[in-house]
Amino acid sequence: MELLQDKVALVTGASSGIGREIAKDLVAKGCKVVACARRYERLQKLREEVSAPERMDIIKVDMREEQEIHDMFSQIKEKWGGVDILINNAGISHRSALIDGDTKLWSEMLNVNVLALCICTREAIQQMQEKEVDGHVLHVSSMAAHRVPPGGGIYAATKHAVKALTESLRKELRVAGSNIRITSISPALVKTALMSDYLKDKEASNLFSKTKVLDSKDVVSAIIYALTQPPHVQVHDILLRSVHQIT
Ligand SMILES: NC(=O)c1ccc[n+]([C@@H]2O[C@H](COP(=O)([O-])OP(=O)(O)OC[C@H]3O[C@@H](n4cnc5c(N)ncnc54)[C@H](OP(=O)(O)O)[C@@H]3O)[C@@H](O)[C@H]2O)c1
Repeated sequence: MELLQDKVALVTGASSGIGREIAKDLVAKGCKVVACARRYERLQKLREEVSAPERMDIIKVDMREEQEIHDMFSQIKEKWGGVDILINNAGISHRSALIDGDTKLWSEMLNVNVLALCICTREAIQQMQEKEVDGHVLHVSSMAAHRVPPGGGIYAATKHAVKALTESLRKELRVAGSNIRITSISPALVKTALMSDYLKDKEASNLFSKTKVLDSKDVVSAIIYALTQPPHVQVHDILLRSVHQIT
């Protein structure tokens, strides 16, 4: 784990679910972690729970607001000298059909899952280049990037975009002669608030009681695997499903 020691890792969407778990784990593994989200009180609680609170900064950011993202990167540069690892995890999923859905909900998914991910990636890579470090950008994508589940709609489109962005970035970095790495992690169903919101409460509890789905910790293991490979090894994508899941 010495590859992670003292690395500055930004985790977006750290107030719940997968982001919360990876932020905790990265602190335990020796990183300096910047945990961001909108719900600041949840971030405060997270910092109280981590093994070394002095290694965690928390920042309130709404990923739909580009200026807030820029302000966050300025704060990181001032305090820690820039990021080494970016975990693009913040994401939102609404049920909003293509035939009669709500443009506002579509727009929120596109803004958070795609545009904010691109803005954070660009800002992080600029800081890595200024620091002259071979950093790592990791997108928390989805199996919805690889197949379209029923009702996938705009959410599946955003994750298909993340798949394309992963490959585009890999090629841009290679052309630029950079050793910065880019990885996607593509989980299927994970037991988090996002899934419960998407499936609505009764449906979710039925599903979770009948089917063993992934846990956030399962996704964290895949993220840590990708981050701790030797510098010449780039894990491109990891597809993860519960053994019980059919789709
Ligand atoms: N759960 C699944 O089944 C599943 C499967 C595949 C992939 N994923 C992906 O995993 C990632 C994490 O999701 P999760 O399952 O852990 O869900 P979650 O528990 O709902 O967490 C989502 C995180 O995103 C943050 N977020 C959402 N909108 C934001 C905004 N406008 N500004 C800042 N932060 C925002 C939330 O923070 P605030 O609300 O506090 O801002 C929260 O911390 C997402 O990219 C999701 O697409 C999830």
